[in-house]
Amino acid sequence: MPLSVTTPWALGGLPLATRAVLAPMAGYTDLPFRRLVRSFGGVGLAFSEMVNPDSILRGRSRKVSALVATAPDDRPLGWQIYGTKPGLLAEAAQWFEARGAELIDVNMGCPQKKICSRGAGAALMKTPELAVEIARRVVESVKIPVTVKIRLGWNAPDAAAELARGLEAAGAAALTVHGRTRAQRFSGAVDLDGIRQVVEAVRVPVIANGDVFTLAAAREMLERTGAAAIMIGRHTLSEPWFLRDVARDLAGEPPLAAPCFAERLAMMRRLYADHIQLYGERFGVSLFRRWIPRFAKGMGVPRPMMIAFLQAATPAEWEARMAEVERGAGV
Ligand SMILES: Cc1cc2nc3c(=O)[nH]c(=O)nc-3n(C[C@H](O)[C@H](O)[C@H](O)COP(=O)(O)O)c2cc1C
Repeated sequence: MPLSVTTPWALGGLPLATRAVLAPMAGYTDLPFRRLVRSFGGVGLAFSEMVNPDSILRGRSRKVSALVATAPDDRPLGWQIYGTKPGLLAEAAQWFEARGAELIDVNMGCPQKKICSRGAGAALMKTPELAVEIARRVVESVKIPVTVKIRLGWNAPDAAAELARGLEAAGAAALTVHGRTRAQRFSGAVDLDGIRQVVEAVRVPVIANGDVFTLAAAREMLERTGAAAIMIGRHTLSEPWFLRDVARDLAGEPPLAAPCFAERLAMMRRLYADHIQLYGERFGVSLFRRWIPRFAKGMGVPRPMMIAFLQAATPAEWEARMAEVERGAGV
């Protein structure tokens, strides 16, 4: 049965084709990975990794230009920024808008100590006046929609509804809510009722987030929270086609088979080629290592072969390891 929420929706005037949203994940959701996820279809919206405004406004190393890389097929895309200085965040939003961005997202949910100790990320939930001021300044500085990603609170799930009202009043076009407190980080169950309270507190669309690893969990999250869409992070790292599956399921379409071995090999090659193109040979080969254990697991590659793969240091070595995997599987 299709859910009643399958009709296209818009976010601050930006039309979105499905209610499946790719989460921002630092160290993962760069252009190569977003492209891979989008290649399966079903992505209503994707977010960049969180970007430090200082790094883009003060000169651009190769690493930063890779962080802000996008492409015509990488749409719609929200650029996520983080920090505590309203003026700097506003300037960063303008920087992205001037380069064709369609959406800016402000991170108020990151639980990491090095971010929170500076008052940024989830720590902004402890300083709601500053959080609202940041949202207001960023909204005023650009014409494109601005969204904010929050958690349910700092130590207790008691901050989100009121903060959400403040952010809405400041002009946020939508809010994403990860249904945990900062204290929980990634532990404990996601609190769907807590997300629902935010949905009920505001009129702007809410994107619900946290712990969607199955189609049933995706449906349950939408049904129980009343959210406009769901955001999915970690499960896409092992199943980059999962947003396609969720979008199809919500639309009442029959499931498609997961990619076979040969398709996974092709995926891996494409992701690798995009790494080399974006990061160059040296850094591209080393950065791609983050993906090898996940692909190896999904393709049943024996551990010694995977370890040899992780040791490949040049494109030639990488090709040799890839050929072994193909031979080993009789491809
Ligand atoms: C490796 C990793 C990096 C993340 N980086 C960010 C980030 O840059 N910005 C952000 O708002 N959330 C970040 N998150 C949180 C996710 O966007 C998401 O809220 C969280 O993973 C819960 O969703 P999930 O259960 O579907 O993974 C990150 C999560 C992970 C696992």
